[in-house]
Amino acid sequence: MTELYRWWQTGVVYQIYPRSFQDSNADGIGDLPGIITRLDYLQWLGVNVIWLSPIFQSPMADFGYDVSDYTAIEPIFGTMDDFDRLLTEMHRRGMRLMLDFVPNHTSDAHRWFVESRASRDNPKRDWYIWRDPAPDGGPPNNWLSYFGGSAWQYDAPTRQYYLHLFDVKQPDLNWRNLDVRAAMYDVLRFWFDKGVDGFRVDVIWLLIKDAEFRDNPPNPDAPPDAPPREQQLRVYTEDQPEVHDVIAEMRQVFDAYDDRVMIGEIYLPYARLMTYYGSSAKEVHLPFNFALPLLQSWTAERVRAVVDSYESQLPADGWPNWVLGNHDQSRYATRVGQAQARIAQMLLLTLRGTPTCYYGDELGMEDVAIPLERVVDPSGLHGDYGRDPERTPMQWDASPYAGFSTVEPWLPLADDYQTRNVVAQRDDSTSMLTLVRRLIALRHDYLALRVGNYRSLHTDNAAIFAYLRVADEQQVLVVLNFASAAQHLDLSSVGTTGTLLCTTHLDDSGSVTLSKLALRPDEGVVIVLG
Ligand code: GLC
Repeated sequence: MTELYRWWQTGVVYQIYPRSFQDSNADGIGDLPGIITRLDYLQWLGVNVIWLSPIFQSPMADFGYDVSDYTAIEPIFGTMDDFDRLLTEMHRRGMRLMLDFVPNHTSDAHRWFVESRASRDNPKRDWYIWRDPAPDGGPPNNWLSYFGGSAWQYDAPTRQYYLHLFDVKQPDLNWRNLDVRAAMYDVLRFWFDKGVDGFRVDVIWLLIKDAEFRDNPPNPDAPPDAPPREQQLRVYTEDQPEVHDVIAEMRQVFDAYDDRVMIGEIYLPYARLMTYYGSSAKEVHLPFNFALPLLQSWTAERVRAVVDSYESQLPADGWPNWVLGNHDQSRYATRVGQAQARIAQMLLLTLRGTPTCYYGDELGMEDVAIPLERVVDPSGLHGDYGRDPERTPMQWDASPYAGFSTVEPWLPLADDYQTRNVVAQRDDSTSMLTLVRRLIALRHDYLALRVGNYRSLHTDNAAIFAYLRVADEQQVLVVLNFASAAQHLDLSSVGTTGTLLCTTHLDDSGSVTLSKLALRPDEGVVIVLG
């Protein structure tokens, strides 16, 4: 089979949260020169696509997701020269670079918003979403911010409210305004002209809001103790029909360039998610698949149901993708424990579809409990969830600040960094890092893992999720034990013998007899059949 796949289909994506990856100038915050010094590590790990969370000029009210200039590098992170060097160094290594496009809102310090709020007749007034107060003087409707409280902020000088679905310092742009679209497409072109390979697009499913500003209805299924945001069905603030036209238009900006990728951040159930691949016109290449981070219970049965349901609902030409975590979600190792985190990594890296690895997960980094006085995330300060625990500094070595910095970092380090770090795990043949590196290498080496079909296998064992990946004559079997007890299986229905390519315990090799497959507690295996 000749490979007719694009780099974003066969690659392994690695998400860097720039503030937390590597500090190079002793301010306790990661930066671009720091990332450059770690490219050899990333290459060694085997990842070949890097997605950087926002690096643009920002007052950091939401740590870069509040952009005040989309075509300038935030000085905390470095200079445009640093950026150019990063891109050159990556391309020289055959790696691709994706940036983070934040189109739904700007910072309130963006000059567009400064103009917009200056007067009601400012030419940029309509670039944002301004509404008169309700008759009682209160907010125009009941829409809520994801970070807590009303999504409307009263601006006394012009006696109107502006909309902010996130922080009050993140006013929403008006994507019904064609000048806004043109200006934002120019931003994409600026970076594409530099050679950037693609974008992850922030909250793309929120870009358009109900034209009539109707109240969101109550959510009859929300438990009484659920946060206010969950007490509403967000039917007028999310997933509006007209958003698809905007995304299709945005996609054309990508397609005017050679081989660029658009990945959309979209939190929706599968049936709705699939519509973002586009029907009449192309939309995103990959709508992020967040089913695993959102999973309520980590059992073989649940995971298998999710994977099978995803596979069966994908449109014929829709390429799949998988994610375990990101800068908004609790770390996987914390959620499922270290033993099962290995199973999770094996799953992520052997399923069909582009995997995205969150920095530090390759070490089994865990959420870090943040003392109250060090909480900085706006959703933690004003809302009901804090995301600082999953954003702590990368653990490189056992030195005082984990090799991340030479000064106290902006977020506390994990207690275990002296033992859980890259240097300690790199030469340990049974570490999580060794496992992840081995799995990535297998993915690059085996066509079946890279692009092969997926078929889940029925076993009578509730602790087991097993599946086959098949391309041409190559068949790779993955068997995952979700229990902390040993399991014995007969998988002779798929073949007689096979060769072990990898186990989560990293201490085994050789041939296996499929009729008598034995898995140790919390063990996963990858086997090539025949
Ligand atoms: C996305 C980002 C999140 C940010 C929000 C507002 O969900 O991933 O970190 O706070 O959008 O931009």
